[in-house]
Amino acid sequence: MRKKVIAGNWKMNKLPNEAIAFIEELVPLVKNTKNEVVLCVPYTDLFYSLLVAQNTNIKIGAQNMHWEEKGAYTGEVSAEMLKSIGVEYVIIGHSERRQYFAETDETVNKKLKKALKVGLKPIVCVGETLEQRESGKTIEIITKQTKLALEGLSNEEVEKTIIAYEPIWAIGTGKTATADDANSAIHEIRNEISKIYGQNVANGVIIQYGGSVKSANAKELFSMPDIDGGLVGGASLDATEFSNIVNYEK
Ligand code: 13P
Repeated sequence: MRKKVIAGNWKMNKLPNEAIAFIEELVPLVKNTKNEVVLCVPYTDLFYSLLVAQNTNIKIGAQNMHWEEKGAYTGEVSAEMLKSIGVEYVIIGHSERRQYFAETDETVNKKLKKALKVGLKPIVCVGETLEQRESGKTIEIITKQTKLALEGLSNEEVEKTIIAYEPIWAIGTGKTATADDANSAIHEIRNEISKIYGQNVANGVIIQYGGSVKSANAKELFSMPDIDGGLVGGASLDATEFSNIVNYEK
C-alpha cells in the first residue's frame, strides 16, 4: 500500500514568526493522522520550522535546491546545505520555476539525482499548460517530463522519488482537474514508469495531484486509486484548512 503524502507548498509566503505560529497551530490538528504531513517553506523559514516541528509528525521541505555541492553560484542553496540543517523533503521543477526561472527537464534531472544522492526526499513536479491540454498533448507532455526527470536513475532511486502531477491551468486558479481526469493522467505517468522500470517499481512510486486542492475536494481526489495525496499551494497557508485536507478521510 502506498502512503498518502500531503505536502503544503507555501511558495513565497510567511515570515518566520508566521511560520512558527502556523506550525504550533497545526501540530495538534494533524497529530493523529496516518498520512505523511510535509510543509515546504521558504529558505528563511526552514530553520525556525524545523525547530518547531521537532518531535512532531510534521516534516519540513524546501522548494528548490542547486545540483552542485558548493561554489560560485550566487544566491543558490545546495542539497548538502538543506540536509545539514535537517530538511527532509525538496520540491524540484515546480512549474513556476520552469516558467519564471528557466528550469528545464535537464536541470530537473540534475537536481533530482543530487537530492537522492544526499538523502533528501524529492517531489518532482510535472504538468501541462492549458494550451497543451486543449491541443490534446497532455499525456505526451507529462510522460515526457517524467521520463526526462528520471533519466539515469536506478530502480531504487525511482522508488524514492515522489512525483506531483500539477496541471498548470489548475494552479492558483480555483479550477481543479476532475478526480477522473487527474487519476487517469497519473495512471499514464505510472504506466510510463512501468515501461522503463517495471511494474513493481511503478506500483511503489508515490504520485500526488496538485492544483487548487482544498478541503472541499481533497476526499474525492485522494480516494482515487492512483492519486497518493497532494501538493497544496494556497490552501496550505491556513492551518485549519490544511489540517482538514490532511484529515480528508474524516
Ligand atoms: P494551488 O493549490 O494554490 O493551486 O497551488 C498548487 C501548487 O502549485 C502546489 O505546488
